[in-house]
Amino acid sequence: MGLKPSLYWNLEDDKENIREGAIELRARVAEHMYYKNYETPEKAKQQLNGPGFTWRIAAARKVELITGRKLSGRIIEVGAGTGVFSAQISKEPQVNEVYCLDYDRFSIDSLFPLVCNNLNADTEKIQPVVGSYNAMKCEDGYFDYVISLGAIHHSENLTATLKECFRVLKPGGFVVAVEHCHPNSYTNYQQRADYEKLISPQRAKMLYNDESLKIKVKDNSDHYYRICEFESAGFAAGFDVLPYIFDVEGEKADDKIFRKPQPYRDYSNRFFRPYFAKDLAKPVFDNLLLILHKPSSEEAPSFMTDINIKNVTDKGFFGRLFK
Ligand SMILES: C[S@@+](CC[C@H](N)C(=O)[O-])C[C@H]1O[C@@H](n2cnc3c(N)ncnc32)[C@H](O)[C@@H]1O
Repeated sequence: MGLKPSLYWNLEDDKENIREGAIELRARVAEHMYYKNYETPEKAKQQLNGPGFTWRIAAARKVELITGRKLSGRIIEVGAGTGVFSAQISKEPQVNEVYCLDYDRFSIDSLFPLVCNNLNADTEKIQPVVGSYNAMKCEDGYFDYVISLGAIHHSENLTATLKECFRVLKPGGFVVAVEHCHPNSYTNYQQRADYEKLISPQRAKMLYNDESLKIKVKDNSDHYYRICEFESAGFAAGFDVLPYIFDVEGEKADDKIFRKPQPYRDYSNRFFRPYFAKDLAKPVFDNLLLILHKPSSEEAPSFMTDINIKNVTDKGFFGRLFK
């Protein structure tokens, strides 16, 4: 059985939150950079086990250790790009349905079917969707999980995005986002200046197959959100919030402003350092696992606190997080 036909959720309804030209740029990345990497089952497996994905999926799956629940039920992956995570999770028996959403049509209609085919996805469970994560045309409370792997930092309005995620989740549901982040000491001035920077010719060549292309960071709808911006948007949307920061690239990280753990509130229990750091001597904490929980009257009011306390006090559990 092949994939179901895509749903097309009206992008016009999210016009004010979509940067002009960003979708076209994304389509070029999918066409020039990603497509060739998934042309055969061998290539697709190589990608899955390569540096781009392993750690992202591993980080997202930490939510299972943290909450004690497997990713299950109805899942939507937003800003899915290649859709590798959707393809993989569809094969698990506790997962009933997977929506794979991106606003770029090429990714959903051309790249994702190739990925599903070459990663042997369970296509019966999958619904591809072209649409924006700020305007999902499904009923309230439809999903158990919203997953974002490096996608919601593209949001032009993080609060609007997370409000929409809150709406589509069942009470008790979770957003699990793995995102590049900046420390809270990063200033508005720096942030604005960084958005105006031109990407290098090498990067323009790699992403868009054109080194002469003059693209600013902001043109691709990329954002350097701080941890506190992710958190405050999560709270504003109605979620309870658990943030974990971790290092993935060590010295090679493209952003070195996280040179040491943030002296920030009670973050000390919220690092994934030994697991992910490539250079243990000089970790750069520039990635965030953001867990957002939609409160439910069926859970104890202390549900999130209990998770947090368990994480701090239960040595076995804590140890496993760092495996
Ligand atoms: C950096 S890519 C990450 C892709 C994929 N999750 C991965 O791990 O490779 C970000 C993706 O988010 C998508 N995106 C950005 N804004 C979006 C929006 N408002 N609605 C849906 N998708 C969006 C882009 O098209 C792009 O495919």
